[in-house]
Amino acid sequence: MHHFQYKNNELYCESVSVTKIAEDVGTPFYLYSHATLKRHFEAFNGAFEGMNRLVCFSAKANTNLAILHLFASMGSGLDIVSGGELYRGLEAGFSPGKIVYSGVGKKIDEIDYAISSKILMFNVESLEELELINSRAKNLKLKAPIALRVNPDVDPKTHPYISTGLKKNKFGIESDAALEAYKAAMEMKNIQIIGIDCHIGSQITQVRPFEDALTKLKLLAGTLKELGIIIQYLDMGGGLGITYSDESPPHPVEYAKALVNSLKETSLALILEPGRVIVGNAGILVTQVLYRKSGKIKEFAIVDAAMNDLMRPTLYKAFHAIEPVKKTEKGTIIADVVGPICETGDFLALDRQIADVQRGDFLAVMSAGAYGFTMSSNYCSRPRAAEVMVYKDRFEVIRQRETYQDLNKGESIPSFLL
Ligand code: LLP
Repeated sequence: MHHFQYKNNELYCESVSVTKIAEDVGTPFYLYSHATLKRHFEAFNGAFEGMNRLVCFSAKANTNLAILHLFASMGSGLDIVSGGELYRGLEAGFSPGKIVYSGVGKKIDEIDYAISSKILMFNVESLEELELINSRAKNLKLKAPIALRVNPDVDPKTHPYISTGLKKNKFGIESDAALEAYKAAMEMKNIQIIGIDCHIGSQITQVRPFEDALTKLKLLAGTLKELGIIIQYLDMGGGLGITYSDESPPHPVEYAKALVNSLKETSLALILEPGRVIVGNAGILVTQVLYRKSGKIKEFAIVDAAMNDLMRPTLYKAFHAIEPVKKTEKGTIIADVVGPICETGDFLALDRQIADVQRGDFLAVMSAGAYGFTMSSNYCSRPRAAEVMVYKDRFEVIRQRETYQDLNKGESIPSFLL
């Protein structure tokens, strides 16, 4: 990560000292590097140069408006999974014609919103959903463009919670049933079949599972052609992994090469839905050490960021490197890095070798740009953290830290209790 680097033992984001931002904004906060966001999008999109493709950034990884706006301005499309993501995407400046909508549980109001916004396509995950989209489109006197999300039954070899393309997973339509589903779609007057889609999982560190899924999708596309169902788009979903510690995922160029090679003989346009690979290593979470505590068998660094700010360590046992914002000569300790929440699961790292920090020191939780803020909550009535973006030697708060008043938003005490 070139844009998070030490200068004279001080961590910098581009040309701004992280300590300076922490003193200005307070902690905890998410910090994103504009240059890294841009470079990662360009590297991914550029890897498919010459190919008829649309990269749709996966909103769920990071929905901050400023970040969405940046990608929209670079020509990105958007992969959404809810009406809320559609709303934020449109507000951020994405053209509806570049938005694809996945998810097993789309509700009527979300379907209507997406049809009338004229999104590029729905990735449909069941027959019942298909029927509903058809009837809602009829109601709106429009045609809904769709792809069927096929579950290709390949093992992405990642954490079970983020595997999605196995038979036992709730996602997509099983490959054996897909053909029948396409035939049914063909009969629906307000459905326009334009694509085929899959998404096999996340944090995938090998090319092979993608190749296997693509082979299955191509086969199905061929059969569809024989039936006179001509599709334009093949959506491969997201899922390319990143380095959190010692993983060595394929570079986007290697990933692209595998897909492009396999697609050479077709005229299909490729859609990709990367999330983590674009934003994961473009952001960090900055927190301050509140206390040190030494137990008989454990050393604790108690910090002001908690599981409500970053769920990944406790939810997936995910590893995030923890670096000192200011390096000192003091050496290291083995400690649990824990937050203020009253749960044993409230940790950012367990038995981790970290800098020998003191009260008041700042720590950087690395690789926190994807599924960090978007998965945060107000548990224990903790206002959600601020988000900051650095651009060269400038920084700006792109989401204010929530206030206590924000915590009560929308709540009221009913008259029968007064
Ligand atoms: N497309 C679809 C349909 C998806 O479900 C996902 C992620 C993506 C694209 C983007 O995948 P990516 O390129 O980011 O791997 N919260 C978990 C990750 C859940 C991913 C869910 N789907 C985590 O923190 O690791």
